[in-house]
Amino acid sequence: MMNTYRIAVIAGDGIGPEVLREGIKALNQAAACDGRFSFDFTYFPWGCEYYLKTGRMMDADGLEKLKDFDAIYLGAVGYPGVPDHISLWDLLLTIRKGFDQYVNLRPVKLLDGAPCPLKDVERKDVDMLFVRENSEGEYAGSGSWLFKGKPHEVVIQDGVFSRHGCERIIRYAYELARKQKKSLTSISKGNALNYSMVFWDQIFKEIGEEYPDVMTRSYLVDAASMFMVKDPGRFEIVVTSNLFGDILTDLGAAIAGGMGLAAGANLNPEKKYPSMFEPIHGSAPDIAGKGIANPLAAIWSASQMLDFFGYKEWGKRFIDSIEEVLVEKNVLTPDLGGSASTSEVGDAVARKIRK
Ligand code: NAD
Ligand code: IPM
Ligand code: MN
Repeated sequence: MMNTYRIAVIAGDGIGPEVLREGIKALNQAAACDGRFSFDFTYFPWGCEYYLKTGRMMDADGLEKLKDFDAIYLGAVGYPGVPDHISLWDLLLTIRKGFDQYVNLRPVKLLDGAPCPLKDVERKDVDMLFVRENSEGEYAGSGSWLFKGKPHEVVIQDGVFSRHGCERIIRYAYELARKQKKSLTSISKGNALNYSMVFWDQIFKEIGEEYPDVMTRSYLVDAASMFMVKDPGRFEIVVTSNLFGDILTDLGAAIAGGMGLAAGANLNPEKKYPSMFEPIHGSAPDIAGKGIANPLAAIWSASQMLDFFGYKEWGKRFIDSIEEVLVEKNVLTPDLGGSASTSEVGDAVARKIRK
């Protein structure tokens, strides 16, 4: 029987549509080769251009429109001309929160052939999986702006760390570590953030009692950033808060081939709502429209979608295909030192997938 997956495509802004096209090419290629499954893509024109035309980043009933899809494939959101806090809160963050995609899985893995700026580091030592809390924390959106515009104005931005929110993400990370027989590192900042991060550390310890088989480490975020550069081999599975996870995974991208190679999955593990797959980079206004954006991160996030649907062998085939293209070095975009276009790289990966 043929499984047809209904995918909502929100290509978004800047290079978003350019890189998603290549991810879709790869997905269709896999479906054509396999024969057991196919994809039915529905395109939503939401984003900054839509905002400038309609005054909205997405339709008022946008979540309702998305809720029955099997997955969402997102390019990037945000463009000069629309304030970032509006474009992101009214689209990307609305979806992450509205669909309770509380797990953000971001691999930081130095693939074969990918460039690494670190000295004296072996390829195998850059192989981490970030489990970023994706629903609350520093991104809770709680706060206030008092006496706006007055000389005595005050802004307050709350960090919100609920027991429910911390327990579920930390438990998810322990389960992954147990399943993969890897160590688990928690990254926090209890020395300065004397409520939220002390609480986080406490919950990390509490849940850890249920997982005596999992080797754990706990680092302060400042030291963790230093170790990611100086000794990345000490990190395997990593669990951290929303903001720290955001920042550290761009650092991770930098040591694992660049923004063009960094993928992420926003998961609602219970599958009550659709999960969302996206490259972690933004809309890259500096290179948008030139046809030179690197599509490999978008293709990698498509492989996470295949993993999520249970086609792990195809997920792996995508990564293997990306690696072959990286190792051969014939067809790469300028960020990786090549002169190929986005679609040429997408074609090269699709050819490898087909083989
Ligand atoms: P960015 O990730 O868009 O770009 C940072 C740098 O990396 C730029 O020099 C860009 O050219 C380069 N880069 C990024 N992706 C690339 C790719 N695939 N190939 C080659 N080079 C690539 O970050 P920014 O400039 O800070 O943000 C631009 C806009 O995107 C802002 O509006 C921001 O809010 C938004 N943003 C959105 C998302 C998202 O939708 N998930 C993520 C990050 C930033
Ligand atoms: C990311 C992005 C978003 C985040 C922004 C655009 C809100 O930087 O997906 O990494 O901080 O989560
Ligand atoms: Mn980010």
